Amino acid sequence: MPDASPLAVEAIRFHEVGKTFPTKPVPLRAVERVSFGVARGELLAILGPSGCGKSTLLMMAAGLEEPTEGRLERGGMPLVGPHRQTGVMFQDATLLPWLSVLDNVLFPATIRRIPHAKVVDRAMELLRTVGLKGFERARPHELSGGMRQRAAICRALVLDPDLLLMDEPFSALDAITRDEMGDVLLDLWQHTHKSAIFVTHSIREAVLLADRVLVMSRRPATVAEELVVPFPRPRDPRLADTPEFTAITAHLRGVIAAGMQGEMA
Ligand SMILES: Nc1ncnc2c1ncn2[C@@H]1O[C@H](COP(=O)(O)OP(=O)(O)O)[C@@H](O)[C@H]1O
Ligand SMILES: [Mg+2]
Repeated sequence: MPDASPLAVEAIRFHEVGKTFPTKPVPLRAVERVSFGVARGELLAILGPSGCGKSTLLMMAAGLEEPTEGRLERGGMPLVGPHRQTGVMFQDATLLPWLSVLDNVLFPATIRRIPHAKVVDRAMELLRTVGLKGFERARPHELSGGMRQRAAICRALVLDPDLLLMDEPFSALDAITRDEMGDVLLDLWQHTHKSAIFVTHSIREAVLLADRVLVMSRRPATVAEELVVPFPRPRDPRLADTPEFTAITAHLRGVIAAGMQGEMA
């Protein structure tokens, strides 16, 4: 008999989800009937070639795009449109330039007409956690790119979502800032135990941060490989220098390269 306890319910599940965009003159098949789920508290990383349909998967998970076939479940219920317990962070940290850092972090509350007083303590605590204490009143242009991304993480988390969707959140950053952001995320993770889907181009980032990695094929996206990351938590960034880690990243690189070769053939 299946386990009916609430913990057995996944944060999100894709059931045979496909997506075709009605482009002219020919429709564009972005996602080919994929099925996967994210357990509660699990961090799933998605890797795959550029243009394969990763962002489309996240947009559907966010309820911002509808699947053409199949269906999504969120916490065991059908997903219809944006879910208030889902936090999103897309590629460019588009903070609103006229708002302070704190007001940007509070913006999801503003949209939902939740009184700021209810969430301001949490916002301040998040800003402190990511090292932005003292910058609450600054405007986005006064921050570095890495600091803006940190503020965007706080914004995605301010309403205490149980699922966080991140689309290449650090890809615009230089390598060192990017590693720092990985550490920030790992740290937040180890404290909050949220479910998350994290799209990245970095194999290292995926293996360092995630519980499980999906490698998508070239477009239309299907799951080419699924790998459970065997390293216990808490993880240390120095893990990336070990032979065990390197063996896994080399394997994933091979899977991705195999997919790309198919593209050129
Ligand atoms: N709204 C849309 N309308 C038409 N085509 C789209 C739309 N969004 C994405 N696509 C196309 O779908 C494919 C997958 O895009 P995307 O999911 O952004 O890929 P990835 O994030 O893996 O780079 C691309 O060919 C892209 O041009
Ligand atoms: Mg994308």
